[in-house]
Amino acid sequence: MPFLRTALSFLVLLLLPPGTEASGGTWCYATQDAACGPAHWEALDHQCGGANQSPINVDRKTVRRSRELDAFVFKGYNTATAGAWSIANSGHAVQVNLGSGISVSGAGLPAVYNALQFHFHWGNPNGNGSEHQLDGNQYPMEVHIVHMHSKYTDIKVAATDPNGLAVLGFFYKVSDTDNTNYNTIIDGLQSVSYSGDSVDLASTFRLDSLLPPENLLNRYYRYRGSLTTPGCAEAVIWTVFEDPIPISSSQLSAFVNSVHFSASGQTEVKMQDNFRPVQALNRRRIYASKQASLSSGTIPALSIVLLIFPLLAIRLL
Ligand SMILES: *[C@@H]1O[C@H](CO)[C@@H](O)[C@H](O)[C@H]1NC(C)=O
Ligand SMILES: [Zn+2]
Repeated sequence: MPFLRTALSFLVLLLLPPGTEASGGTWCYATQDAACGPAHWEALDHQCGGANQSPINVDRKTVRRSRELDAFVFKGYNTATAGAWSIANSGHAVQVNLGSGISVSGAGLPAVYNALQFHFHWGNPNGNGSEHQLDGNQYPMEVHIVHMHSKYTDIKVAATDPNGLAVLGFFYKVSDTDNTNYNTIIDGLQSVSYSGDSVDLASTFRLDSLLPPENLLNRYYRYRGSLTTPGCAEAVIWTVFEDPIPISSSQLSAFVNSVHFSASGQTEVKMQDNFRPVQALNRRRIYASKQASLSSGTIPALSIVLLIFPLLAIRLL
């Protein structure tokens, strides 16, 4: 197997020479090289300076409840689907490429969206690294499950459509015990230590085993945004789930301390803080699902009317 792994890694390196992402030229996170970090992305791709960028802070004082945001229909999430999954180090994140047969619909989405891959964003030993924030809190890590509108087969084409992609984002929180549902992925990290590394996972598993329990999956926030890496296409219907996924500090440490931005043989640079800072909300609105929590500080518009109207009436008398 070691030979096969090396051969596979080499093949991926040939297929993905550095700096040839779909668009955007050579980009990086500032922990790798300040000269190509998020502050410079707009110069590489003008879309990164757009008005509808991701990630954002989900400020629950300003979210609006939407009755359309009911339960998701998850297909293929509760079976170990056929076909190999691979884990890869893209040089920017650790990504698991999924086989076919996994999709989401419902939950206010305009179509069925097929799952392509999921990947992680994390921080450093002393700092959290989620991309989204909830009420200004950054979490230790975040996973993005990337889905594409079922009418597309090419993500480059989907990225030109505001409804082209649907990404599900989940936060992590540190728990006292290991989340054993992550064993396959944590073990896989050893095989993707360097940029360009890629191996097939020993087995597929239920994708929903990585997520919070099903009864919490109807608690989420929805807004329209972008890819969080260049070219930053504004093609994403974002769902940020309220309830974090527990993992132990040693599991978190496996991401933070054992993966590299650099390729094998290059000067080692640990993959840390591979998250984009939060972007301005601008004119957008964030919606809460039927079951999601609104901040206790929210005063519904109707109660303001009910409060002010009697006061006016008293004054007029
Ligand atoms: C990091 O995340 C934890 C939740 O796991 C939270 O308690 C802590 O306040 C966060 N730190 C920062 C600086 O946001
Ligand atoms: Zn992401």
